[in-house]
Amino acid sequence: MAPKGDNVSVSSINLEKIFSMKGGKGELSYANNSQAQAKHASSMLHLLKETLDRMQLSSPEVPFVVADLGCSSGSNSINTVDAIIKHMAKRYDALGNDSPEFSAFFSDLPSTDFNTLFQLLPPLGNHGGSMEEALATDSHRSYFAAGVPGSFYRRLFPS
Ligand SMILES: C[S@@+](CC[C@H](N)C(=O)[O-])C[C@H]1O[C@@H](n2cnc3c(N)ncnc32)[C@H](O)[C@@H]1O
Repeated sequence: MAPKGDNVSVSSINLEKIFSMKGGKGELSYANNSQAQAKHASSMLHLLKETLDRMQLSSPEVPFVVADLGCSSGSNSINTVDAIIKHMAKRYDALGNDSPEFSAFFSDLPSTDFNTLFQLLPPLGNHGGSMEEALATDSHRSYFAAGVPGSFYRRLFPS
């Protein structure tokens, strides 16, 4: 162990392996201690929606994909992704178009507790029903979800 006060050099790759929010759903977990972040995210929602309104809509055959870089393991990321997808679905609907298939990539450092994040996801809403029906209910998820472990300072996705 390095003596107190000495600088300890850790490579950025090693930091990526160990540096993440506290997982699980316990008292000290990020999932249970991120209400302040949730408040800020919801106060910024109108700006996010303004940005989404400026996006050009593709044809409904082209899937719409959301990626959250730094999702951590609480429900904040899930709530923001949900708000984005519901807003975009409304835009397609307003034009009389079908909604595209929606997907969300939840990305964070490999040491993130993706299990807790995935357990917080509402059930996928197209079992026996359509994605449109799932979009109409709050208790179901209207998008496919995947986890992407890695640093956002490196390449995370194929072209
Ligand atoms: C304060 S948390 C925010 C989590 C969530 N987006 C929210 O709003 O509650 C910041 C997240 O960024 C992640 N993070 C920090 N540096 C990162 C990097 N280089 N690549 C990917 N994720 C990173 C952390 O692991 C952490 O989960």
